[in-house]
Amino acid sequence: MKKRLLVALVIIFTMVFSVQAGFAASSNIEELPNIKILATGGTIAGSAASSTQMTGYKAGAIGIQVLIDAVPQMKEYANVSGEQVCKISSNNMTDEIWLQIGKRVNELLADKNVDGIVITHGTDTLEETAYFLNLVVKSDKPVVIVGAMRPATAISADGPVNLLNAVRLAASKEAIGKGVLIAMNDEINGARDATKTNTTHVSTFKAPELGYLGYINNGKPYFYRESTRKHTNQSEFDIKNLKELPVVEIVYGRAGENRVIVDAIAASGAKGIIYAGTGNGSIHNAAEAGLIEAQKKDLVIVRTSRTGNGTVINSLPKWDDEHFLKGDSLSPHKARILLSLALTKTNDLNEIQRMFNEY
Ligand code: SIN
Repeated sequence: MKKRLLVALVIIFTMVFSVQAGFAASSNIEELPNIKILATGGTIAGSAASSTQMTGYKAGAIGIQVLIDAVPQMKEYANVSGEQVCKISSNNMTDEIWLQIGKRVNELLADKNVDGIVITHGTDTLEETAYFLNLVVKSDKPVVIVGAMRPATAISADGPVNLLNAVRLAASKEAIGKGVLIAMNDEINGARDATKTNTTHVSTFKAPELGYLGYINNGKPYFYRESTRKHTNQSEFDIKNLKELPVVEIVYGRAGENRVIVDAIAASGAKGIIYAGTGNGSIHNAAEAGLIEAQKKDLVIVRTSRTGNGTVINSLPKWDDEHFLKGDSLSPHKARILLSLALTKTNDLNEIQRMFNEY
């Protein structure tokens, strides 16, 4: 008799506890931040023939719902839903897709029911998309870009933990107002200064001189720094009505250079040239002659450095006389994005130089 009573009590207790836990879970779901994941492809969605294949796989093969279902732990921290923007290897990223993502991010973040965005992306051009969004997103809400270096099918794939960390970062108060962030390998990088530094290692994203913004430790973000350059809500660039971006090309300075590439670009209808100069943005004499002529055809010329570090903020007097602009510490490929957006607003060289000093 006593035993039956005990069993009955245990059953009642279990039922009451389950109902309470159920209430707690459902009220918890309502309180959790709402995070939208926009998927674009890349290795994080890559599929290989075997678990040991780490290169030569098909990037962007796996759809967003499969990626979400593979990381159910995300549901403890956010209400997560996905949208497939495209399924590409990011070396094939286009201006059209950038405009599509930028407009969609702005639309979603204007919704009071969306608290943050995560974008899954291939790592090859991840830093470019991050910087583009850093300049065109009109919100302080967190936008986090995440990729992976090993395909989703690999042994020790880095995608699932990177995605979980990205969602936790996008759901965090700490990430608000920090500009577009990159979450990979337990590190938080800022869109402006980070770059892919290694072809295959999982620790590939670094801001070699200026450093990480913070770490993700046990899933929790810890910030130590933030960029002082303008971004997101402070930015003057608006893509709402843009259907295309002005074309800006990059010329890579080198020993033995000629002006063939500069001349071809000037004849192509491009609106600007980023010169990835040797050392402190230095220009080969042969290319310089071509750039002076290109400038006369109204192309805007910006000097940057191919060294990957340091600034291009000073000049030989002759390059100032030719009104070649200075790209500050931006990499040539990020300077290309800023010049393209600058040209959507103005052709005034002083104004464009101001933008390079501020962003
Ligand atoms: C890509 O950029 O789409 C391929 C490489 C990668 O995601 O790591």
